[in-house]
Amino acid sequence: MNKVLVSLLLSLGVSAAAQAANPIVGDAEAGKAKVAVCGACHGADGNSAAPNFPKLAGQGEKYLLKQLHDVKSGKRQIVEMTGMLTNLSDQDLADIAAYFASQKMSVGAADPAMVERGEALFRGGKLAEGMPACTGCHSPDGAGLAAAGYPKLGGQHAAYVAKQLTDFREGNRTNDGDAMIMRAIAAKLSNKDIEAVSSYVQGLH
Ligand code: HEC
Ligand code: HEC
Repeated sequence: MNKVLVSLLLSLGVSAAAQAANPIVGDAEAGKAKVAVCGACHGADGNSAAPNFPKLAGQGEKYLLKQLHDVKSGKRQIVEMTGMLTNLSDQDLADIAAYFASQKMSVGAADPAMVERGEALFRGGKLAEGMPACTGCHSPDGAGLAAAGYPKLGGQHAAYVAKQLTDFREGNRTNDGDAMIMRAIAAKLSNKDIEAVSSYVQGLH
């Protein structure tokens, strides 16, 4: 066989193997240059001003990356973001996730009138109905479990959190992993429960 062809085939094989061993790693610095369009809704550093736009600052990198892929593929439908991720590569999405994860999420305040109910649900769940406490996966301070892809909730806008819980319950958000964990949990929450626990996490840190 031609020597050039042999070395070409060898180098192709080597680079494919190298790629498999080195999955894409996000670069926060590179990501910063790719989020100008996102800032209009999510805030330049990922701390959005409007309560229906989620804060992305300080959110877990793995969780963010999963959401970005789900939004891009249409598994999670966000009309406000239609087409925005279409031309971004896997590397771009990884860089963007790394950038927002490296920022710090601001904290809001809980409505004092709902703290008791919200805290009881967050820390105790509804054991009689088989609903575990939120703390088990989202941690006692609401920081989430970044390595597992369990999102941070502490400081997130209450209005956004309430919409997500309602969407999970009604089956309008169905991208929550193979086990559909959040759909099973939200099914046990009344509207009043959702209001209280969402207000509670907004002030949690
Ligand atoms: C026109 C407003 C708008 C723009 C611009 C926008 N988004 Fe969003 N984004 C939203 C809304 C609204 C949601 C939440 C939708 C819902 O309620 O489920 C969202 C959700 C998200 C989420 C999921 C957050 C979570 O906690 O699950 C991520 C990640 C995200 N956006 C990233 C981006 C990135 C990256 C860009 C820029 C490329 C961007 N968005 C641009 C409106 C916007
Ligand atoms: C067994 C683990 C587990 C428990 C318990 C749990 N969650 Fe979750 N939660 C998850 C996972 C995993 C996701 C991410 C789903 C995805 O990938 O889209 C999630 C996502 C969420 C989101 C969406 C976050 C965002 O930024 O869009 C909210 C809100 C939420 N959970 C609230 C709660 C509340 C409130 C409770 C308690 C009533 C709770 N969760 C209990 C695992 C759990």
